[in-house]
Amino acid sequence: MQKLEQIYEGKAKKVYATDDPELVIVDYKDDATALDGLKKGTIVGKGVINNQMTNRLMVKMEKAGIPTHFVKELSQRETLVKKVSIVPLEVIIRNISAGHFASRYGVEEGIVFDQPTIEFSYKNDDLHDPLLNEYHALALKLATREEIDLIKKYAFGVNEVLKAFWAECGVTLVDFKLEFGKTADGTIVLADEISPDTCRLWDSKTHEKLDKDRFRRDMGGVEDAYAEIMKRLLDHDAD
Ligand code: TMP
Ligand code: ASP
Repeated sequence: MQKLEQIYEGKAKKVYATDDPELVIVDYKDDATALDGLKKGTIVGKGVINNQMTNRLMVKMEKAGIPTHFVKELSQRETLVKKVSIVPLEVIIRNISAGHFASRYGVEEGIVFDQPTIEFSYKNDDLHDPLLNEYHALALKLATREEIDLIKKYAFGVNEVLKAFWAECGVTLVDFKLEFGKTADGTIVLADEISPDTCRLWDSKTHEKLDKDRFRRDMGGVEDAYAEIMKRLLDHDAD
């Protein structure tokens, strides 16, 4: 497999072409942004952790019957994935109130929901990723009815697998964001990453934050939190 030219650079990852038109290489950076890219920084070692954590979690999703873009880990920061066109929807599942849910609806953080919520944002930086519902997504032709139904089914499936896995690591899955892609033959697969950048993860006992909120909120201990959450995963999988 040959790594060819860079075809895309996002806030946290670069994407490279390969000599196979159906495969690309993602390369995870240590760059961190928040507040729509307004706040910029570096989380040393984040790229390695997010790459390795995402890949291990993607494998768990595949085992649970949720198709993903994952093909093969190539190095500490690089992974071979199926080339997809990203469905321009950020899919957010919440089990507990936090972040924008708490601020938008004027409630405290930490309320445990009877059932998970799902919401969609239009993935568009110029518009600041506005919240939208399924009817808006259909009107904007961001996805078809069938694709949205499948994405919802997969997203709730990811929640069940992730919630149970993190619980076994002594970690509470508060919420997370997923992105889906379409392969050349039109198959919907889970894409992007599943990492402390895209999930809120709290220590189950102390409720200590083990995710990017430490960066977003200038809480300090960011690198330690990423290292701790990765250690929990590795310790679990070593058993
Ligand atoms: P929110 O409470 O800010 O809407 O975030 C919900 C979840 O989505 C949280 O786990 C962080 C994640 N997220 C991203 O991965 N990228 C983003 O741009 C935003 C706003 C949230
Ligand atoms: N990724 C988002 C940004 O750069 C923010 C976030 O994760 O909170 O703005």
